[in-house]
Amino acid sequence: MKRIQLFEFEDFSWFPSSVRTGMTNLIAVLHRMMGISEVLSHLLAGILKENNLNQIVDLGSGSGGCMPDVLGQLHQTDGLQDVRLLMTDLYPNKKIIKKFSAQGNPKISYYTDPVNATDLSQVPAGLKTLVNSFHHMPPKAARQILKTAKDNNEPILIYEMAENKMPLLLWWLLLPISLAILVMMVFFMTPFVKNLTFKQVLFTYLIPVIPICYAWDGQASLPRMYAMKDLDVLLKGLHSDTYSWSKGPALKANGKPLGTYLLGMPKD
Ligand SMILES: C[S@@+](CC[C@H](N)C(=O)[O-])C[C@H]1O[C@@H](n2cnc3c(N)ncnc32)[C@H](O)[C@@H]1O
Repeated sequence: MKRIQLFEFEDFSWFPSSVRTGMTNLIAVLHRMMGISEVLSHLLAGILKENNLNQIVDLGSGSGGCMPDVLGQLHQTDGLQDVRLLMTDLYPNKKIIKKFSAQGNPKISYYTDPVNATDLSQVPAGLKTLVNSFHHMPPKAARQILKTAKDNNEPILIYEMAENKMPLLLWWLLLPISLAILVMMVFFMTPFVKNLTFKQVLFTYLIPVIPICYAWDGQASLPRMYAMKDLDVLLKGLHSDTYSWSKGPALKANGKPLGTYLLGMPKD
């Protein structure tokens, strides 16, 4: 496989929740800057309609990423006004959950208990989505997720905002400069975080733990992503007459690629 198993700070259970959330808040800003909600709402609208589904269960939601915006866009689509979004995470953050419940929108909720994406038995039925979180799963766990979706005959959409195409040696050579760029980006992106907290400001500008960890995790994410050929390896033996898999670049409305997707769908 091209993918390698580097560590990310976010994956450590001891990692402070406020720093983890500071980092996922920044990913949400990046989503908005890149227009990822547009790509996902376009993909999801078709899947929801074809499968006659009205619930999205997002796994590894972090601070929500672009999913709340995606839901808003789906609600503007004919026939999808009743779609609900349930967000989940292995490390759910109480403040994020409170933020969403305070909005009083009955169509959007965040599960309070930890949900491991590798154990879908805990999760209600619906279209499963993993947005920028599939690379956190080592191959055995990743395959388990795909197998469960297929065995349960449930649709699943996996999206990553980049593609693991860069030669690994080049990635290592560029690492010092890429880390420096990401640290700088955090300083500029932080004011755009929704519901910015004192802790996030403190751990960004005075004690720069968030920029350093965000820069490392952001860079480590790339070689951890499953390349297109790696997905073929994961999917070996998971093809059947009743369930289909498709993958490729995800497209913006103007036809430009933005990230990659893997979609598993029941054929009926
Ligand atoms: C890079 S963040 C992406 C967050 C969000 N989906 C987004 O796009 O902004 C990855 C998230 O996956 C979660 N995660 C990692 N391993 C997980 C697992 N086994 N089950 C569920 N969530 C997991 C992390 O806690 C983190 O919130």
